[in-house]
Amino acid sequence: MRVLVTGGAGYVGSISVEVLLAAGHAVVVLDDLATGHRGSVPAEVPLVEGTYEDAGLLTRTFRDLEIDAVLHCGGRSLVSESMRDPAAYFATNVAGGIVLLDSMRATGVSRIVFSSSAAVYGRPDATPIPEDAPLRPINPYGETKRSFEAALTWYGAAYGLRSASLRYFNVAGATDRNGEVHQPETHLIPNILASADGGPPITLFGDDYETSDGFAVRDYVDATDLGEAHLAALEATAPGDPRTAASLVCNLGSGVGFSVREVMAAAERVVGAPLPHEVGPRREGDPAVLVASINRAADVLGWRPQRSDLESMIGSAWAWRRAHPEGYSA
Ligand code: UFG
Repeated sequence: MRVLVTGGAGYVGSISVEVLLAAGHAVVVLDDLATGHRGSVPAEVPLVEGTYEDAGLLTRTFRDLEIDAVLHCGGRSLVSESMRDPAAYFATNVAGGIVLLDSMRATGVSRIVFSSSAAVYGRPDATPIPEDAPLRPINPYGETKRSFEAALTWYGAAYGLRSASLRYFNVAGATDRNGEVHQPETHLIPNILASADGGPPITLFGDDYETSDGFAVRDYVDATDLGEAHLAALEATAPGDPRTAASLVCNLGSGVGFSVREVMAAAERVVGAPLPHEVGPRREGDPAVLVASINRAADVLGWRPQRSDLESMIGSAWAWRRAHPEGYSA
């Protein structure tokens, strides 16, 4: 397969590129490098510098580079930014996504795997969360993911598009080559590791949740495990495969929850030292518990997380940080 990876210079995208290459597929990266890193794109992989909102660029790319399938990791992904600027989120994630789908239709590319999010569920009634739980996003980011999933469903019914939407829970971990560098960084594990590296003490947001230790609980899944799920999902979009006769939706998590305090303790074990931290108020919009039911990904895709043990993920993130103290050079 020749796969166009949108956002392929970002954290999840770059690690998926590694998995696709290792499986023998050809890859083209489309990234405008607004948040992605040129240095994460392997020398042998063509980098098309631009956005999936550009119909002309996409049409040329699909035709000239003979793309078979799209892995759509690109888009805006900060919850708090989406609350301040929903217009940017709807423009990029929804309107831009439609440009991508219509360019695929125009050039006969009919296979897509989409990076969706647990944010589509909002505050779930119960956990682990199955895919058929109600979708009640509580921020524009989650709403844009829900909207694009809906577009995939209707494009499938009307135009024969074959799609899989993968709802990520909390992605963590690194490979030797690629790791997590966001600016600004809002995620728990990179912020803990920054504090271990001489940064300011981390604030743990809220110790008054109705959980066993009072801290919010999340389901962490390794980025390379996600890459393997992407590969399995891309294979499931093959013409005639019954798994994507209707658009497929799967959660991707480990199926196990850890509290913020437990993540902190695991990081202290990995680093081998107590880490400076303080407890602050809850962060607005944070649900108490988000844990995935991962049975469907196992049943339909044959996917099970292999590396999503908490200490292993923090360990690989820490090793990457130590090996790349300045992040990416480009
Ligand atoms: N947290 C802290 N201190 C920090 C950062 C985070 O205590 O400095 C806490 C958060 O309050 C939360 C947990 O650590 O309880 C995890 O927070 P992250 O920011 O790492 O991740 P989220 O669970 O907020 O976000 C993830 C994805 C989003 C997705 C969301 C679904 O990164 O893309 O799940 O709700 F939208």
